[in-house]
This record gives sequence, C-alpha cells and structure tokens, in this order.
Amino acid sequence: MDKLIVRTAEAGDIDAIAAMEQVCFSTPWSRESIAHDLTDNSMAQYLVAELDGVIAGYGGMWVIVDEGHITNVAVLPRYRNKKIATLLMSVLLTAGERQGIRRFTLEVRSSNEAAKALYRKLNFKEAGLRKGYYQDTGEDALIMWRDPAEPPKN
Ligand SMILES: CC(C)(COP(=O)(O)OP(=O)(O)OC[C@H]1O[C@@H](n2cnc3c(N)ncnc32)[C@H](O)[C@@H]1OP(=O)(O)O)[C@@H](O)C(=O)NCCC(=O)NCCS
Repeated sequence: MDKLIVRTAEAGDIDAIAAMEQVCFSTPWSRESIAHDLTDNSMAQYLVAELDGVIAGYGGMWVIVDEGHITNVAVLPRYRNKKIATLLMSVLLTAGERQGIRRFTLEVRSSNEAAKALYRKLNFKEAGLRKGYYQDTGEDALIMWRDPAEPPKN
C-alpha cells in the first residue's frame, strides 16, 4: 500500500531535491542554493513528500516578516496528478498561518498552466506581471498573492 508522508526537509534531502530540480525545471536551482536554504537560511522552510520512502516532491518558502514567499514546489513526473503538490502547499500554508503569516506570494511562468491551476485552487490570485522575467525564454512571470480568508459574516 502507498504510504505518503509530508515532513520537514533535512540536510539529507539536499541531493534528492537537487536531482528533482534538474528533472522539473528548465532553469534549476543549484545544489548550493538548495543546501543554503536547507542548512543556513533562517528564513527558509522546506517540506518533502515521501511516497513509500521515495522523495516524490518538495516545496518551500521564505518567511519575510509576516509574508510567505513560496520559492518552489515540484513533484517528480511519475508521481504527478496524485494531489501531492496540493498536500505540500496546504501544509506549507497552514504551518505559515500558525506562525502568523497573513499573506503569501509567488511567481510562476505565464505558460505554466498546471502550476497556475494549482495555485488558483489554493486561492492565489493574479496580481501583476514581470515582463520578460525568465532569462532563458524571455517569458513573463505572473505574480500571485493569497490574502487571508475573509472572516465569516454575521
Ligand atoms: C505543478 C506541479 C507541482 C503539480 O504537481 P501535482 O502533484 O501533479 O499537482 P496536484 O495533483 O496536487 O494537482 C493540483 C491541481 O493542479 C492542477 N494541475 C495539475 N496538473 C495539471 C496539468 N497538467 N494541467 C492543468 N492543471 C493541472 C489541477 O487544478 C489540479 O487539481 P485537480 O486534480 O483537482 O484538477 C507539477 O506539475 C510539477 O512539478 N511541475 C514542474 C515544476 C513546476 O512547474 N512547479 C511550479 C513552479 S512555479
């Protein structure tokens, strides 16, 4: 039976995350950047999703004052469409809210329909565009923000 757990990323996960970056992104983060975030950066919070002992996905954010800046979320191709990214993001957001983070933001390639759909489902809204932000293709970055849920009306 498949056993899926989400846990805090540790130094021992650096190689698996670096390998996932190579598979999942056209401009992957370097191993050094990942190692820095996992071991030295006090603003960084990363999670991994482990399916039957294999690191299937990861996600992270930087906490900047009371804002959560999502840095990356990725799931290995063979494990996609199993709601693993949804789970990773939900745990990141809930953990952030418990620490008092009110707003979350991220950047996504304007052509990345899967990621945009994922973020919209989690209540991120499109808030702006950085024209030609991605140097490899000259593609625009869509900036998305997620505001605190409205309090229920009486
Ligand atoms: C984007 C990504 C993380 C999604 O991971 P995943 O585990 O397959 O996503 P989930 O199964 O949780 O899907 C959540 C929602 O995302 C959307 N989605 C996922 N894959 C999709 C696709 N290929 N096309 C359109 N929407 C898609 C859907 O709305 C889906 O909800 P639904 O199943 O109820 O329709 C994964 O495709 C990936 O790693 N891509 C490469 C890295 C990347 O682009 N990361 C984002 C950087 S900003």
